[in-house]
This record gives sequence, C-alpha cells and structure tokens, in this order.
Amino acid sequence: MNVLGIETSCDETGIAIYDSDAGLLAHVVYSQTAIHAPFGGVVPELASRDHVKCTLPLIMQVLKEADMTLRDLSGIAYTKGPGLVGALLVGAMLGRTLGFALNIPTIGVHHLEAHLLSPFLEDPKPSFPFLAGLFSGGHTLLIKVTGVGAYEVLGETLDDAVGEAFDKTAKLLGLPYPGGAELAALARRGQINRFYFPRPMIKKPGFDFSFSGLKTYASHVIFNHLGDDLAKADIARAFEEAVVETLVVKCKRALKETGYQHLVIAGGVSANLSLRAALMHICEQKGVSLYFPRTEWCTDNGAMIAYVGALRLLAGEREDLSVVVRARWPLEELRLGVCNLRSFPANNA
Ligand SMILES: Nc1ncnc2c1ncn2[C@@H]1O[C@H](COP(=O)(O)OP(=O)(O)OP(=O)(O)O)[C@@H](O)[C@H]1O
Ligand SMILES: [Mg+2]
Repeated sequence: MNVLGIETSCDETGIAIYDSDAGLLAHVVYSQTAIHAPFGGVVPELASRDHVKCTLPLIMQVLKEADMTLRDLSGIAYTKGPGLVGALLVGAMLGRTLGFALNIPTIGVHHLEAHLLSPFLEDPKPSFPFLAGLFSGGHTLLIKVTGVGAYEVLGETLDDAVGEAFDKTAKLLGLPYPGGAELAALARRGQINRFYFPRPMIKKPGFDFSFSGLKTYASHVIFNHLGDDLAKADIARAFEEAVVETLVVKCKRALKETGYQHLVIAGGVSANLSLRAALMHICEQKGVSLYFPRTEWCTDNGAMIAYVGALRLLAGEREDLSVVVRARWPLEELRLGVCNLRSFPANNA
C-alpha cells in the first residue's frame, strides 16, 4: 500500500510516501523558520498561509521523486492533531479532498503517536513493550507503550515543554529562533562546572516534569552576566546539563518502575547529542536497548505520518467524509490493537 503522508501541524510542511512493502519511497520537509524568525516564535496565521502555498507543490515534488502519479497512491494520511488548528486544517482539508477525489482510503493521524513510532522507520525496530520519552517543542511525556495505540502516560510537564525551555533560554541568550539546536551547539563550547542549574522535580516522586523555573533561573544568570559574552557558552552548557540530567533521572526511574528493557526517545529534543549520550550510558549499564529516530525525523516530518497512516489504514481504520481536526487530543484516547510492526519495512529513501 502506497500512503501519502501530509504533516502541517505547526511550522513545517512535511510530505512523504511510504510503501508498506518497500518502505519509505520519498520525503521532503519544508521549514517555515525564516518566516517566523523575525517574530521569535510561530505566528499561527502565517503558518497556515504558508502551508496553503506549499503543501500541494510539495506533494507533486514527492510524487515526482518516487516516480509516481496521484493515481499510484492507495491511501492518504494527514496530521489530524494536536497542533495549530488553522495549520492542521490545511493538511486535513487537502488530504481528505484528495482521498475523496482519488476514491482511496484516508486517515487522520495523531501527531504524537507519529513522533513516538518514528523509530520504527529505522532498523533495528523497538520491541513492545517499551518506555517512550516524547521530548518535543510542545510536549514532555513519559509513556508506557504496550502496543500500537496502547499508551499509558506515566508523567508529563506541568508547565513548559522541554523544547520550549530550550527555545526560550536560547532566545534569552540571543540565539536565533528556534534555538534548541543552536543552544546545544553553543553548549559544546562551554566550560563544564562554571555554573550549576537546578534539576527541577528530581527529588519529587513520580514522573512529572517542570521546566518553566529553569528558564527563569537561566534568565537571572544571563542578566547577572550581561556584557560577558564568554559566559554564554558556559550558561548554555549548564542549562543543557540540567535538562539532560532531569530527563535521564526520570527515564531511569520509569525503567525501574516498569521493568521494561526497551527505551524509545522521540521528538525534536531527542536529537540532542548530550541527551543521547547520557541515555546510552544508563541503558548500557542496565542492559536496556535505546532507540531514537535519525536527526531529520526527530522534528516534524511527513515520513512518520505516512508510516502511522499505513499502519492504521491496513488495520482498517478510515476517516468519514467530515474534516475534523483536534487542537488538543490526549494520546490515551487512541485505541488499536495492531500488529506485527516487524513485518513493516524501514526506510529505503
Ligand atoms: N539538538 C537539539 N537540542 C535540544 N533541542 C532541540 C534540538 N533540536 C531540536 N530541538 C528542539 O525540538 C523542538 C522541535 O521539536 P518538534 O518538531 O518535535 O516539536 P513540535 O512539533 O514543535 O512540538 P509537538 O511535536 O510537541 O507538537 C524545538 O523546541 C527545538 O528547539
Ligand atoms: Mg512535533
């Protein structure tokens, strides 16, 4: 089954074609960063308008790359939520209309399910059950995953998402939007142990997070070192270390609690090299296998949408003709007892 994936939940237009026999055939991600950068954050109306301009041409580009026409598609998947409503509506309306016009099945995909299953685009694939850390720009979740559609949230952030904390701290450091990767690059030049940032909530029992205080702490340290440009890298380093240790402590605790032998991390912050290294270290110690997507699939992309769309379409799920999007959509509302994912091929593109 050839499934076209359309991702428009925020500020990236991601398009891909995933073949359930051959794997990923083609994909493209167009980032709106340049449009939003002057405002220091995503402007929803500008995001929607740009998706309107870009989505169809990118679909045509991806079809050409895969040497296919619209008629060769056998299914359509679009991001149904959670995300910015206007942006979601662009992909949903186009996806549903294409599905109707081509008379092929169509499915709305949960953006966070797509992030957390994105490591299945790689080989080796994780085995169920696993613990998933979804660390993105809008979410920070620790999830028990016992199958596709079987998700139990163990903990989440009580305020800012971890990616949001990276972005806000990066902005305070004068780095360009979106700042997570820029802050991480700056941190690599920073001196270890010059500053020490608090590790929020690690002493509290449970699996919840809080990152807004860390960002406020960073703002005080930055204010106290105004004019000292050399301090910036050291501050970035201390901030990153605090975030990484906080995430690692909670992952370790959740692995202990669940007894799971597999850990998956996904979402934009899972691209962070210090986080990956720290998790690799604890996983090696505990004999746990660690999985994460390649860097380009940590942030938003169409490949993960096409992949989850293929899973759900093959399991018989369909959208009806109404176009519904969900700005908020708890992951635990999802159901579906699929399926032998090992029989699904990984990336070929
Ligand atoms: N190397 C990195 N280190 C830390 N953070 C990073 C890195 N690379 C990307 N990020 C952060 O990842 C986030 C973007 O990730 P993603 O695209 O998954 O989030 P989103 O789609 O905005 O949110 P959500 O998926 O929750 O709706 C941004 O906050 C960005 O700063
Ligand atoms: Mg995302």
